[in-house]
Order: sequence, then structure tokens, then C-alpha cells
Amino acid sequence: MFILNLHDQTPLYRQLYHQIRERVLSGELPADSRLPSVRDLAAELATSRTTVESAYLELYGEGYIYSKPRSGYFVSALDSEAAPRSLIPAAPRQTPLQDPPHPCAFDFHPARLDPASFPAAIWRRLFLETLRDNVRELTHYDEPQGDWGLRVAIRAYLERSRGVVCDPEQIVICAGLQQSLDIVAVLLKDGHSAVAVEDPGYPLPRSLFRNHGYRVIPLPVGPGGLDLAALRGSGGTVAYVTPSHQLPMGYVMPVANRLRLIEWAATGGRMIIEDDYDSELRYHGKPIPSLQGLRPDGNIIYLGTFSKILSPTLRASYLVLPRTLLAPYHHRFSHYFSTVPLLEQKTLAAFMEQGHWERHIRRMCIICKRKHDALLHALERHFGNQAAIIGQGAGLHVAVQLLGPGPDETELIDRARHRGVRLFPFSATCDVPRSGPPMVLLGFGGMNGDEIEQGVRLLLQAWQSSP
Ligand SMILES: Cc1ncc(COP(=O)(O)O)c(C=O)c1O
Repeated sequence: MFILNLHDQTPLYRQLYHQIRERVLSGELPADSRLPSVRDLAAELATSRTTVESAYLELYGEGYIYSKPRSGYFVSALDSEAAPRSLIPAAPRQTPLQDPPHPCAFDFHPARLDPASFPAAIWRRLFLETLRDNVRELTHYDEPQGDWGLRVAIRAYLERSRGVVCDPEQIVICAGLQQSLDIVAVLLKDGHSAVAVEDPGYPLPRSLFRNHGYRVIPLPVGPGGLDLAALRGSGGTVAYVTPSHQLPMGYVMPVANRLRLIEWAATGGRMIIEDDYDSELRYHGKPIPSLQGLRPDGNIIYLGTFSKILSPTLRASYLVLPRTLLAPYHHRFSHYFSTVPLLEQKTLAAFMEQGHWERHIRRMCIICKRKHDALLHALERHFGNQAAIIGQGAGLHVAVQLLGPGPDETELIDRARHRGVRLFPFSATCDVPRSGPPMVLLGFGGMNGDEIEQGVRLLLQAWQSSP
């Protein structure tokens, strides 16, 4: 006996299909037993023949039943071990889905951008022009390394702004750091087994290299960047670093240490992975040239992203491979495809070629510097000497050491959340748990000046309030 529910949103034929399939799989309808004729079952269920026919055809198409000319449909013999246990679709939820987490009014997440900053009008125009001009390209697969025009534009930009010297052949367009490092992890696997990372540092590279079977060696960082003495003694042969704006501490590796690091990589086939993720955003002084620019033929893999200036949801980044890795790259990845949509790549190329990218960087630097200064003033005003700011002057966040008695990190984050303030846990950046008074990472990109001021005031309340 099958039951069709007219009030269910699932189409009637699908309801019937599921019920028959369940009985076939459970053995309730044994192999080779005959199913009722379409006409009989339709009459029994007071439904149309089309409903029954559609259910039978679907079951037939998937091999649950077979047909014999002029005899009707029969149940197929299935391997009961291999069959899924139950295929009745889960009953509709009795409890409603929970609302998505409520966005906090004051979100200090370190990787948010100004909500009004995306150049939507220009992007829309370029996107539509790109669509109009590239209809042919949409019908076939794109170059695996990424759109040539975009790579040419990135090359020119990197040379001008970061001193990176490379050819477009060395550039791979990727859908973010994760994909860039996935490629790097595969390329380095033959000669390397241990990767040194900054601690505290960006957590993604640690997880990624561990997932690829590498030993990850967390090394301390200080105002001079990665601890080079510790690196030399670590046994690591690959070093992942953020020398132009260390995440999370904001340190800038001085040029003398950059040269020492490059020297370290020059022997024994070692490799540096230079993550230059937000070097565009410097608010004082001149940007320090990239490691790659200091030694273009060195063992340096250079990584950059469009997430910090344009949008993290475009998922567009790039990887510059040293020439020595080009042949292994082509060998390993010749059957891969680009993961960044072509229209987006070509829009981005037009955005760069027409000068919008560098104008946008200048605009973002002005906007972000204003927010950065507002944050420093708010910290000064509310916390005074209860907070020491670390790594100011660049990027989208500062690290703050809270001083004096106060709650631990978990308690602080909790108290802040109750006041509408979202904090990213600093401890997530630490591979080796640290003790002592909490540090907080305060990202300012997603808030305006007033919100920053109020957010810091509420943060002080959370820090000082009793539990
Ligand atoms: C150190 C570091 N590198 C790179 C990125 C950017 O990654 P993606 O290009 O995947 O957005 C981030 C983002 O927060 C980061 O903190």
C-alpha cells in the first residue's frame, strides 16, 4: 500500500518513486516480483497514470525495476549488501532551522573591507563589456595558468609596485591563498618534508601543509620578522613568511634580515614562500621591496591576492613561481584547469589595464589610513596605558596587548559579544599556546570611524567589567 500526500511539496510521482525504491531496497518487494500495472496502481491511488508512469520510468532508468514486453514491470535483483540502508527522504524538520548568527554591530574581524569600497559601477561596466567582447571564449576551456592578459597586467603591476621581476609565464592565477599553497605543497613534496612557519602566524598555511603530510615547524617572530637563528636550527627546508606585514603582529622584516633569509634559501635547495598579502596598504613611509624583488632568481615563491584591496569574495590571487619550478609545475599540473572564472579574470585584467586598480589602491589607502588612525586614537582615548599597540602603520588590523588585570581570551570574547562586539581570537594564530594577558587583533577595515570609536569603548567595558 502506497500513500500519496497531496499536501507534501514533493511531487506525487517522486513520493511514489521513493516509496517503491525503499521497498525494493529493504527486500519488502522481492527480486522478480511483479509491480501492479500502471492503470491498476493509478486507480488504487486515485491519481493519474502519468504519476505512476513517471515513477516507474525513473525506477526503471535507475535499474531498480526492469520491464518484460507485454508483462509489465518487475523488481530487479539488487546486491543487498551494497544497497544504501534507507533512501526515504528525511522527514521534514520539526524544528525550524536556527537563524544565521546575528551579525555583530561592531565587527573587528581582521579581514573585512569597507562595505562601500567595492568599485561596483566600474566593475559592472567592465564585466558587461567583457561579456560582450568574449562570447567566443565562453565556449571553450581557458588557459590553465589563468588569462594571459591578466597575467601580463599583474606582471607590470608587481614590477612597478613591489619590484617583483618575473614573466607572465611564471604567474599562476589562483582562487586564493589556499589554492596557491595547494599547488606549492605538491610542487615541493619531492624534495621537502618540513615547513617552517611563523608563530603566531596565519593559521591556514599550517593546516594546509599538515594536510599535505609535511612536518610544520612553528618558529617565533619578533620585530625583525621570523627568528632566523631558530630557522637555521630548525631542520625546515621551506619557510612560509609574511615579511612585509607579519600576520598577526604587523612586523616588517628589515632589509638586512631579508637578505639573510634569502641567503638561507640559496643553499641546499631551500625555498621561501613569500606571502605579500596586503603590502599595498602602508600608511607611513615607502613600501619595503619584496624578497622576490631583492633576488628575482632566488628560491622564492611569491604570493599575492586581490582580497585585501578589492574583495575577498572574488577569490582571485596569484602565485609567481621561480623559473626552477616551471618545468615541475607543467609536469604536475598540465591536466588541471583554471579555477577562477574567465569573465572575472578578464574583468580584472581590464580593471588593471585601464588604471582603475592603481586608482583604487590609492583610494583604499586613504580610506584605510583614516580608519587606522581612528582606531589608534580610540585605543589611546579609552585604554590609555592599559593597552600596547603592536604593528601599526599598515594593513587592515593592529595587534593589541591588553595590560593589567582582566579576563582571559575566551571570557573577553564572550563579554564583548554580549555588547555587540566581535573579536577574532588571537589564539587562533598561535600554534604553540601562549600564556599571559590576552592579545586582541583589531581589524578596522569593515567599520566606519564612529563604529570604531564605539566598538573600542565597548571593548574597554568588556575588559573591565566583572564577570
Ligand atoms: C596572511 C594572509 N595571506 C593571504 C590572505 C588572503 O588570502 P586569499 O587570497 O585566500 O583571500 C590572508 C587573508 O586574510 C592572510 O591573512
